[in-house]
Amino acid sequence: MMRGKFIVIEGIDGSGKTTQLQLLGDKLKARGVPVLHTREPGGTRVGETIREILLSPASSDLVPRAEALLYAAARAQHVAQVIRPALAAGQIVLCDRFLDSSLAYQGFGRGIDINLLERINEPATGGLVPDLTIVLKFCAEDGLDRINKSGRSFDRIERETRAFHAKVGDGYLVLAGRDPGRYSVIDANRPAEQVHQDVMTAAEGVLNEILTADSGA
Ligand SMILES: Nc1ncnc2c1ncn2[C@@H]1O[C@H](COP(=O)(O)OP(=O)(O)O)[C@@H](O)[C@H]1O
Ligand SMILES: [Mg+2]
Repeated sequence: MMRGKFIVIEGIDGSGKTTQLQLLGDKLKARGVPVLHTREPGGTRVGETIREILLSPASSDLVPRAEALLYAAARAQHVAQVIRPALAAGQIVLCDRFLDSSLAYQGFGRGIDINLLERINEPATGGLVPDLTIVLKFCAEDGLDRINKSGRSFDRIERETRAFHAKVGDGYLVLAGRDPGRYSVIDANRPAEQVHQDVMTAAEGVLNEILTADSGA
């Protein structure tokens, strides 16, 4: 059995991650690719409970290091219970956020040392690295506007200042610049269908063998 592939979409709140994962997943499923959709924080029963703590506006007194550890705890559960088994079974895992969200939000956003964050996430990921991380590049202000327009209420992180979200957005670009071969940075300030074309091209880059095998070519 061929190991699956691990594809992550990252970006600030409102950049279009969920929208793009849905479009990508639908397209891949239509081509017969075995797709597993999941998200962070969450993706497991325990992880979804941790997600509630993290995103509830009632957790406004959460200190940055506790926040970072809770994200890592949810990730440990997610990697062990969902991501690794799916990859071992040959599935294509499409994940809404992963380790880079911790580095961007708790590191670049909150100012926690990136090395410390990488250390506390080692037991969580066990060294698992995505085959591809797509970063949706988008202006923080516009991201918050999109969420506003969608009519849903802002979660605890989305309630942070625009300056915070701008630092997170810049942080993603720094992370992508450290290891350009593993990342695809895509301009998200366009209609969703146009963004999708680039997301698809990036995904095809890592799914080459699988797509070829499935089309019988
Ligand atoms: N390219 C786009 N152009 C305009 N609106 C978009 C685009 N992509 C997503 N949206 C809308 O913006 C809002 C946030 O998108 P979403 O995919 O939930 O972002 P994220 O998951 O990154 O927070 C949603 O209401 C969505 O329908
Ligand atoms: Mg989303």
